[in-house]
Amino acid sequence: MPASGQQSPVSTNHVKPSCSAVVGLQWGDEGKGKVVDLLAPGHAAIVRYNGGANAGHSVVVGGKRFALHLVPSGVLRPGSRSIIGNGVVVDPEQLLKELTTLSEQGIDCSQVLVSDRAHVVMPYHKAEDAARERALAESLGISAVGTTGRGIGPAYAEKVQRSSAVRMGDLLRPDWLRERIRAALAFKRPVLERWAPDVTDALDEELLYETAIGWGEKLRDRIVDTTRLLHEHLDAGDRLLFEGANATLLDVDHGTYPFVTSSNASALGIAAGSGVPSQRIGRIVGIAKAYQTRVGAGPMPTELTDAIGDRIRERGREYGTTTGRPRRIGWLDLVALRYSTQLNGVTEIALTLLDVLGGLDELKLCTSYEINGERVSHFTPDACTLESVMPIYQTLPGFAEDLGECRSVDELPSAAKAYIARIEDAAGAPITMIGVGPDREQTILADQVSGVGSVG
Ligand code: IMP
Repeated sequence: MPASGQQSPVSTNHVKPSCSAVVGLQWGDEGKGKVVDLLAPGHAAIVRYNGGANAGHSVVVGGKRFALHLVPSGVLRPGSRSIIGNGVVVDPEQLLKELTTLSEQGIDCSQVLVSDRAHVVMPYHKAEDAARERALAESLGISAVGTTGRGIGPAYAEKVQRSSAVRMGDLLRPDWLRERIRAALAFKRPVLERWAPDVTDALDEELLYETAIGWGEKLRDRIVDTTRLLHEHLDAGDRLLFEGANATLLDVDHGTYPFVTSSNASALGIAAGSGVPSQRIGRIVGIAKAYQTRVGAGPMPTELTDAIGDRIRERGREYGTTTGRPRRIGWLDLVALRYSTQLNGVTEIALTLLDVLGGLDELKLCTSYEINGERVSHFTPDACTLESVMPIYQTLPGFAEDLGECRSVDELPSAAKAYIARIEDAAGAPITMIGVGPDREQTILADQVSGVGSVG
């Protein structure tokens, strides 16, 4: 401890909360990519910390749509680095494909870097993902998770298993790489031969080795110690922006398990998935759609299986960016939103896709649940309990107008303002951005709409 009156010899720079994060508050596909793209200017690096190619971010710039799975959305803003952190599981085949497509679209990808500690999604992980889902549903009659089939779960399982996992840095170490692949195959082969007898290439040791060495050669200059790099940025006083993939209710610890993804997709995963301590993050922007969607299996209390759901799906183009699957649609669940806001320590909310609700006579908001005849206002991520809750709704008037041209809160119809204010009130955090269309420009920036809390 420094003596009283003396200045501390240690720079306080190391704890300044100079970083921001963008995180999904629902079951994914909230439009995080667009918000990251908007917030990117002024940040030295945009950092992915979880998930893999299961994520699908689409950003529209100047009418041109860019589909991203592994590369952070910040790549569309020149001048900042795009970092794939250690917590991500990387399918190098997909990464290379994305880099090629982006470069062909005129995007500068020279600053895309990937952690040497990020784990590699190998072809046998994808085969196992598909085989497990098929076996659960068809042979065992047990509810499958409805994964994206991108090998995410098996790759994270291999990471925790340790002895047979391949990390990005291993792609540059031939002998070590060969050993890891051999170890993995010793355990994968019996499983895949039983459950996916048609899979052969993913079990061919020589082919896997040659393929992986080829990835290493192509990605060599991008594979670095990203944790050290991020700390160098922080020491230089730079700001970083963390980009969450998937979303809070899919978080492996805090989501609706087992119908979740395999990483900490909430903001709680940032520190472990990047090496940057959490007290560095002062601004956490939670992204919520103006309604609810979900892809894959699992409970969804406010699900709509009627014409209103179909209408929202079509207007919102609610089909998976990664798999093309139609998304399940529901009324906005404020009970779940409040849970996600608290869990992440959200400092502000971006409400996206509000325009999609235009033209509906009335709008419903789920304000509490009924469980076994009892009214509760707290969320439970326990899938079995959540499956049995009955949503209690508040009904608000709808708005007929097309919101696509609105650029300020004042220009919004009063019914839309009332809808937003009710959400802000329930979530307990200010809504500072409102999406009224897919384009970068179709965003209303507002300090807050109803006067809950304060920004900044
Ligand atoms: P996995 O991440 O492919 O293992 O899939 C697990 C569950 O998470 C499935 O229900 C997927 O549909 C869902 N999921 C994973 N990533 C996303 C995403 O980015 N958006 C929406 N759903 C996702």
